[in-house]
Amino acid sequence: MQHFDKKIFFATNNSNKILEAQHVLSNFKILVDKTEIKKVEIQSDTLEEIVLYALKKIGKTLYPIVIEDSGLFIEKLNGFPGPYSSYVYKKIGCIGILKLLENENERRAKFVSIVGFRRDRLIKIFRGECNGKISYKMTGTHGFGFDPIFIPENEERTFAEMSLEEKCLWSHRGKAFKALGNWIKLYKYI
Ligand code: IMP
Repeated sequence: MQHFDKKIFFATNNSNKILEAQHVLSNFKILVDKTEIKKVEIQSDTLEEIVLYALKKIGKTLYPIVIEDSGLFIEKLNGFPGPYSSYVYKKIGCIGILKLLENENERRAKFVSIVGFRRDRLIKIFRGECNGKISYKMTGTHGFGFDPIFIPENEERTFAEMSLEEKCLWSHRGKAFKALGNWIKLYKYI
């Protein structure tokens, strides 16, 4: 039975994101719980702006709250879908992205995750990036979203072929939540 010293609340409907955050933060003895607080989402060209706006909208809270916004940035498509990843995933999915890159050998891409923390009036932002490429076909059954078509640098497997633990070692979200964990540990903010 694992022992947790601290608890933060994650405002998200994505249960995969909660599992990944929990895996990373358990190394810092932090428990992650879901909150019913809604993340207000604006459309913007930067993930940071989306996260900062949502954090401000939450208002002052007694509890430590985190939110996260992430996206897939494809080099050949000038960073598309980027901050619009969630909408693009719903509309065209992995197959649609593979179609957009049909007969294209330049397949470099990166995932970016921005994690926002708020407690009372204190707001902090953490960034994680994972460079890689878009595969030629969908492979693997784990994870969510674009995992079946994203191969991180120095790997031959997609995120969807990895366990959650492995994915978190390299992933944008793994890095952003690790930065949050280190900051909490250093400054004892919660
Ligand atoms: P949001 O952060 O909820 O706005 O969603 C971003 C979208 O980017 C998700 O719906 C996924 O389609 C995609 N995405 C973000 N992070 C990941 C990841 O770790 N794996 C696969 N897809 C991701």
